[in-house]
Amino acid sequence: MNTLTQVTLQQSRAIDRLVEGMATSDGAGVKLTRVLTGKLQQRLDPFLMLDAFGSDNPDDYIAGFPDHPHRGFETVTYMLSGRMRHRDSAGHEGLLGDGGVQWMIAGRGVIHSEIPEQEDGVMEGFQLWLNLPAQNKMAEPWYRDFASETIPEYVTEEGGTVRVIAGKSNGVDGVMTREITEPLYLDIHVPAGVTFSTAIPATHNAFIYVYRGAVEVGGVRVDAQRMGILSNTAGADGVSVVAQEDARLILVAGKPLREAIVQYGPFVMNTQEEIHQALDDFRSGRFV
Ligand code: FE2
Repeated sequence: MNTLTQVTLQQSRAIDRLVEGMATSDGAGVKLTRVLTGKLQQRLDPFLMLDAFGSDNPDDYIAGFPDHPHRGFETVTYMLSGRMRHRDSAGHEGLLGDGGVQWMIAGRGVIHSEIPEQEDGVMEGFQLWLNLPAQNKMAEPWYRDFASETIPEYVTEEGGTVRVIAGKSNGVDGVMTREITEPLYLDIHVPAGVTFSTAIPATHNAFIYVYRGAVEVGGVRVDAQRMGILSNTAGADGVSVVAQEDARLILVAGKPLREAIVQYGPFVMNTQEEIHQALDDFRSGRFV
């Protein structure tokens, strides 16, 4: 079933904590804001990282992300605006465009590049890292591009517009479903004064990141460029977001793995030995 069925919540989650991203650069000098950093990995298990990028200055993005490896998790890139070409060692290639999503399961390892295919204009979007359970960290790599028009979108009775990238919201299934971590990933546009609600499984850790305007959750204001970590309040069956002005935000939720997280750059495993093995495999050319 894929019919809009708007939820009436018993109780909304609250804002547990506000987080301001950290300006940094990655790849060959792409400027970005690291919103979810290493110290939040336990709190927001199964999510390992969220980068927000957005600039109309080509110097901030033009060099892109040349060949680099990943092992042990999934990367989800959501492009609000811009064009980026992906190529990887597993033979996958794709062009990510406005409103599109690229979902990559790095599994046992890929080497890939993400290079802008534009010389000017705006490049804006997000990259989210989703952890893999120990049993799947060495799975075969997998990759897919979802063009904007394939992403399910619904409009609430109050006028909110929601794109469902992963999971299910108000009866509408997203373009991706993942077992075990069961991620929910929404891009939400709410006009000023309007309330938007969606269910979130009680098992999940969850956060919002506002990228335009401002919202309020349980009386706490979340401004643009801020992450609001949602409380894991017992009995709360979802979240209600009230737009203080026209607002755009992403909502991300997932079921924690509760496994050890050992990260060394682009490798995220469960033990130090597995990290050493990843480095050894990469240096010996066993990622291809
Ligand atoms: Fe990458």
